[in-house]
Amino acid sequence: MYRVARPVLKPLTSNLFGGFGGPLLTLNRSKRFYSSKFPSEIELDGQTFKTDEWTNVPPYILELTKRQLHQDVNHPIGILKELVETTFKDMGYTYYNDFKPLVTPFQNFDVLGFPQDHPGRSKSDTYYLNKDYLLRTHTSAHEHECFQECKTPGYFITADVYRRDEVDRTHYPAFHQLEGARLWSQEDEDWELQMLKDIAAIPQTDIIVEDPFRENKTFNSENPKQDYMTDRQCELASLHLKKTIEYLVNQVFENARISAKLAGSTEEYLNEPLKVRWVEAYFPWTSPSWEIEVWWKGEWLECCGCGVVQNQVLRNSNLGEHKFGWAFGIGLDRIAMLLFGIPDIRLFWSLDERFKNQFVQGRISTFAPYSKYPGIKRDVSFWLPPDSQLHVNDVMEIIRSKGGDLIENVTLIDEFLHPKTKKTSQCYRINYQSMDRNLTREEINKIQEGVEQELIENFNVKIR
Ligand code: DAH
Repeated sequence: MYRVARPVLKPLTSNLFGGFGGPLLTLNRSKRFYSSKFPSEIELDGQTFKTDEWTNVPPYILELTKRQLHQDVNHPIGILKELVETTFKDMGYTYYNDFKPLVTPFQNFDVLGFPQDHPGRSKSDTYYLNKDYLLRTHTSAHEHECFQECKTPGYFITADVYRRDEVDRTHYPAFHQLEGARLWSQEDEDWELQMLKDIAAIPQTDIIVEDPFRENKTFNSENPKQDYMTDRQCELASLHLKKTIEYLVNQVFENARISAKLAGSTEEYLNEPLKVRWVEAYFPWTSPSWEIEVWWKGEWLECCGCGVVQNQVLRNSNLGEHKFGWAFGIGLDRIAMLLFGIPDIRLFWSLDERFKNQFVQGRISTFAPYSKYPGIKRDVSFWLPPDSQLHVNDVMEIIRSKGGDLIENVTLIDEFLHPKTKKTSQCYRINYQSMDRNLTREEINKIQEGVEQELIENFNVKIR
């Protein structure tokens, strides 16, 4: 998540945005990064890019950009995307689905007002082709062009996004987001009437909403209204935004409930009413800003970040100073995992027919696991040199580069500083498991050796 201040570090499993808790354990942010040997040029979509000291995107990530899972109407991600698009049909939105993942730092960060020192810009968090191009880390990277281009009051963008991250059941370096936005104009004499009409057009739901920030509490000094808007404009834009997201969440989670019941589940939570709550947040390109959390199977899930778009972003998009409105961003993969009962995020990328054949357009069905193949656990322990710049994400990337989708998860299980030598020791536990076959000891040994070799060559570690 691209919030700037994070008040409490919540367990990563309850974040549905798609991977932005940051590493559980952040070592000193490195200046020098893992950069295996890159060729002098790399290719993406028929374009050639000269590599430089920023290049850190490995070939297996570039391969993922070709998959476009959200465009596949028979894939869970594509089915979920269509469910949202159908929900908002005829409500004034244009749907954008084919933006390419290659963007500039300007699109991904600058135009949205990310501060220069925001960690999202760093090479430990983001995949760069070179200093001028990166793989978008969020769909907000296209707000600028959509605001410029869109002819309807609002739009939705769905796309694949990429982040260097930890490895586990719910984190994968590629995932999907859906972005929405809607604008009104202060120059429209009837703006208030229009907004009230637009709000009334959003279908009512039975969802239980906890929102201490409604009506006259929409904004405050910590989460301020922008000066160019009136109180009423800010209140109505926020209300439209929240009702839109509540309706979206309702449609998606009600479908999950129906599907689970159809699959024979009798779990208690299926009979409870759907409950959401709003919490304040901070994003560089919105003010005021919030997140919505959904109560699901006994825990609050962070589901979607949103807010009233900063005037600066709209001005940057040549929309003048009279437009105002909202934007939100939601991660699709973890919602699709809940919706389709998919236990491991890697399955979305599986080419196995036993996975793919289970899903059809327009239907939310519960995944039937075909087999659970046994896993293999291995540790990698090493001493770091005293001034090491190794970042947890660097280790994750090395392991993922060597082991690909055989890596089920990786955890830093032990770390200590030797009081005399000032050397740090780290131990990572790697769980290997394949989705579709048995593993052999030989192949795992080879991956382990490769990981150790890369760590030695790039970070001068001493294997223990
Ligand atoms: N792009 C944000 C992220 O990936 C999510 C988001 C938050 C999108 C607020 C928005 C927004 O449009 O207004 O963490």
